[in-house]
Amino acid sequence: MNHNPVYLALDLPRLDAAEALARKVAGHIGGIKLGLEFFCAHGHHGVHELHKIGLPIFLDLKLHDIPNTVAGAMQAIHVLQPSIVTVHAAGGRAMMEDAKAAAGENCKVVAVTVLTSLDGDDLAAIGVSAADPHAQALRLAELAHSAGLDGIVCSGHEVGAVHSQWKDGYFVVPGLRPAEGRANGSAGNGKGDQKRIVSPREARDAGASVLVIGRPISRAEDPLAAARAIEATL
Ligand code: C5P
Repeated sequence: MNHNPVYLALDLPRLDAAEALARKVAGHIGGIKLGLEFFCAHGHHGVHELHKIGLPIFLDLKLHDIPNTVAGAMQAIHVLQPSIVTVHAAGGRAMMEDAKAAAGENCKVVAVTVLTSLDGDDLAAIGVSAADPHAQALRLAELAHSAGLDGIVCSGHEVGAVHSQWKDGYFVVPGLRPAEGRANGSAGNGKGDQKRIVSPREARDAGASVLVIGRPISRAEDPLAAARAIEATL
């Protein structure tokens, strides 16, 4: 059976709009990703509402606190039965071990390494001066692996290399753009910077377990057609 690896990122402020979009494309995605903004705004109620659609729910909460607090947070969301939860690898080994121990059996715990919003200067400013972002991300990936997490969040550019080091890892890849949008970049539709962009198919072929896709579906003129078109490439 060909399981659909696409998780739709529902980064919409309104619960009714998020629910309507998810229902519209539900037959052509594999799950729903809810972030911190959604969770802070709509909490458990919002997650319960979206659960009614019947798809797995990925809670992208990027937890980062002392081990005891993160374990408590994991226990508090256990009732929501998330399929995936994210934590920051920078929280350290004990935090990741305790997060994994507190997660349910069917919940993947995946580490965020270095946020893509941080560059080398940002890392130096917080005292991570020995490493460039890429080296720091690899270091944190290794730490997450040795702490017993299921995998990491990484870009479509990194997933091939990370997969070759961590064969049975679970890799969540955001920042994807369909090849079709890329081809249309010169026409002003999508991104023109072709070198940096990875398509869902390319990421999957490189070893991605989950493809996180937001705006290419949510902001499409026809979200259903966009979700179908992406599914057809996989
Ligand atoms: O760009 P798009 O709308 O497809 O992003 C989907 C999701 O991926 C968003 O929830 C965003 O927060 C996340 N993302 C990420 N790291 C990136 C790019 C996007 O976590 N570098």
